[in-house]
Amino acid sequence: MLVATAALAGGGACMVQAATDAGATNASHDIALPAGYRDWTLISVAREEGRIDDLRAILGNEAAIEALRKGRYPLPDGAVIARLAWSYDELGESAQAFGQSQSHVAGHPKNGVQLMVKDATKYASTGGWGYAQFDPGKSYSTADQHACFACHSVVKDRDFVFNRFAPDLPTGTHP
Ligand code: HEC
Repeated sequence: MLVATAALAGGGACMVQAATDAGATNASHDIALPAGYRDWTLISVAREEGRIDDLRAILGNEAAIEALRKGRYPLPDGAVIARLAWSYDELGESAQAFGQSQSHVAGHPKNGVQLMVKDATKYASTGGWGYAQFDPGKSYSTADQHACFACHSVVKDRDFVFNRFAPDLPTGTHP
């Protein structure tokens, strides 16, 4: 039985248990939330409107950052990208500071954590990426792998990764 300990953003430790029977041959069932993912480097931030309604951070491990910073596609095996998300909350104190509703910040963790794990051989059937969704208290299902893959195929020419590395201030422009 494959059991992974997942430290979910904002919450305590949570056991995520992957089903082993039906999906024993599905390699993606071995995806666990890597320890320390919360401390990875920021690739970018995103805001989802509508039903999803959240504020998100896209983080990458070293292999992912190294490639994305240089815009080098496809990403190498071992690259992992994590998508964290929180409720999109008004910061109450900001209205006081600005004299009007102004700032919105990350509230409670929302919409789980999503991972993309690169292994061109193992995940060949989904473009070389293993996709996984982690929700608190729920064992994750890989049934949606192909739905993840289908939508991410929109950016096939960027190795299925939507977010680009958010640029830094140009060097030399600040003293
Ligand atoms: C309907 C389309 C759609 C589906 C389905 C979808 N995604 Fe995405 N995903 C996106 C878009 C658009 C972004 C970029 C915006 C953002 O970061 O929210 C994104 C971003 C990501 C990122 C950050 C890396 C990147 O590509 O920018 C990860 C990781 C991710 N998705 C994982 C998943 C997983 C895992 C699933 C399935 C459980 C999934 N996605 C299903 C559209 C989709």
